[in-house]
Amino acid sequence: MSKPLLVHGARQMLTLRGASTPRRGGQLPDLSIVESGAMLIEDGVITHVGPSRRIENLAAARKARELDATGRVVMPGFVDSHTHLIHGPARLADYEARILGRSYAEIAAAGGGIRFTMRAVRASSAKRLATEAQAHIATMARYGTTTIEAKSGYGLDEATELRLLRIAKALDGDMLSIVPTFLGAHVVPPEFEGDPDGYIQHLIDAVLPRVAAAKVARFADVYCDTGAFSLAQARRYLTAAIEYGLEAKIHASQFAEIGAAALAVELKAVSADHLEAIGVPEIEAIARSATIATLLPGSVFHLGLTRYAPARKLIEAGAAVALATDYNPGTSPSCSIQMAISLACTQMRMTPAEAIAAATINGAHALGLAEQCGSLETAKYGDFLVLNVPDYRELPYSFGINHVAMTVRHGEVIYCDKDDPIQ
Ligand code: NIG
Ligand code: FE
Repeated sequence: MSKPLLVHGARQMLTLRGASTPRRGGQLPDLSIVESGAMLIEDGVITHVGPSRRIENLAAARKARELDATGRVVMPGFVDSHTHLIHGPARLADYEARILGRSYAEIAAAGGGIRFTMRAVRASSAKRLATEAQAHIATMARYGTTTIEAKSGYGLDEATELRLLRIAKALDGDMLSIVPTFLGAHVVPPEFEGDPDGYIQHLIDAVLPRVAAAKVARFADVYCDTGAFSLAQARRYLTAAIEYGLEAKIHASQFAEIGAAALAVELKAVSADHLEAIGVPEIEAIARSATIATLLPGSVFHLGLTRYAPARKLIEAGAAVALATDYNPGTSPSCSIQMAISLACTQMRMTPAEAIAAATINGAHALGLAEQCGSLETAKYGDFLVLNVPDYRELPYSFGINHVAMTVRHGEVIYCDKDDPIQ
């Protein structure tokens, strides 16, 4: 048992305490701020949160290690609910080609894109992939993330997909909490060229049973769009995945509205992610459902596009909106959820409070982890950040820089910008 940890003096402690369901509409911006806030963490778990003068006087607080957050913001660690963590090399040729005018779809059709990454990942050793992933994880921790989802989807054959999921699972708890997602239905691999139905059948017959039996993924995801899998293929695949006990997620309406968001609602998917092209009936359907609308503005920004997801319409319709990085080498090579928050505010007109709630408590809901993380509440893990700012609105306002002074997961410091100031 380590000594308790007392965090005190925070100018703004963003607790995000409250409802046990995802935040929607007018509830989204409620950060439940405690001014001059404090928190006590024992054995990695929060035991008390409240005003400093009360928490400091608790018997356990008097013998605790102390973290003085005077003048600063303390908030929950970010929950990045959509990443393609393990991915091989950067796609710099794709990036330059796009700058010179070629589209994401054209580059993919010419053999670049996801298939480029697939070839590199298949040729890479598990050790090398894990070492590279650890470097990305360290960057995420530096930028304030404490929990992530990690998708497969760059192996596209049984052995490599399982290898990616096993790496993600093995890295869980090393520095961050990691939830693996099986994205075998990312694109059609060369072995099934021209036969997407055959590949989906192969996934259902051969790969899904292995993934389920190995217990290496919590979620199954499919990229359902023009240029990827059709609605019928996605429905068949996710229905089978659900029968195997996986929970559903969908890359939906990223480039075209083909009904993927409505499919997410129909299948009671945990989340529908992207939604840049979502139509009005689908906005209403998702707002009436329990499916979380996970928005990924980093991919729009990096692709140099202008159509961001209609965050305001989704929020005003009553949808539960989450925000994530979509960290991947093709469309969003940034581990910084702070950047995603800035983009959400300036490009999608989410308020700073809405964006912060979407990247913490609603991200936790999108991973089925809201009882463990996403807010600063008794009985949740002591996963929190100290920011180098006195007001949380500076986080998106002053964009493109790192505001994190310290990242703590389960009561242990995983990043600190100075020598560890815990006394
Ligand atoms: O979320 N569009 C599908 N999947 C990813 C991109 C993956 C890649 O280009 O490597 C996305 O944007
Ligand atoms: Fe993605």
